[in-house]
Amino acid sequence: MKRYFIAGNWKMHKTIPEAIELASELKERLADCKEKLMIAPPFTALYSVAQVLKGSNILLGAQNMGPEESGAHTGEISVIMLKDIGVRVVILGHSERRHTYGESDALINAKVKLALKHDLEAILCVGETLEERERGVLENVIRRQLTEGLRGVDTSMLANVTIAYEPVWAIGTGKTATPEDADAVHAFCRQVIAELYSSDMAKNIVIQYGGSVKPENTATLMAKKNIDGALVGGASLKAESFVPIAKFL
Ligand code: 13P
Repeated sequence: MKRYFIAGNWKMHKTIPEAIELASELKERLADCKEKLMIAPPFTALYSVAQVLKGSNILLGAQNMGPEESGAHTGEISVIMLKDIGVRVVILGHSERRHTYGESDALINAKVKLALKHDLEAILCVGETLEERERGVLENVIRRQLTEGLRGVDTSMLANVTIAYEPVWAIGTGKTATPEDADAVHAFCRQVIAELYSSDMAKNIVIQYGGSVKPENTATLMAKKNIDGALVGGASLKAESFVPIAKFL
């Protein structure tokens, strides 16, 4: 049976006390959850949440990291610092990083390789804008983001990579891709992975869907053949919504 990977991206939300409160509640209420779970608090709350999550089945995630191990990089957070805190997974190439902060495929690729080199799992986010979808270039965009994002990542390292398909127009808008549309893009992601690696790798790679995932739409999305989990934004900020998402079955 498929084991789903349900992840919460808290984005720029939660002070330390708020983060501790939510993480404590999730730890307790998700203790019996069989899926793979992760929460990614903001950097400032990572250490405190790491203490809360000790001994729990929820992995600690970070929302980004710098492309260098250390040095004169004002404002950046290094992979070594994340590992030191107990971070196990890092979200890279989120559309907010790509579109608001101008992160290129090359920069994202450098981060992916650095994370994998240090044994962090990477969630590589891909997704098209509404304009790209309407212009009919969805597949070109996804192919480019996957090919460039994974450049130089060898077969042995791919096991530590999760892909998150997040159509930009569905993020925080209340619009979800229909399960059929999402499944079709996930299938296309597998096709690209098969071309870059092998059909076995394509079959086994975990592909999450992200974009207005809520308790009401989780089960239908997860029922699709090519959808292996969810990367949840807004609905991960409250236990009332994240717990039912994580326990959708
Ligand atoms: P929402 O669930 O708020 O649409 O955000 C999705 C997302 O960007 C997760 O990374």
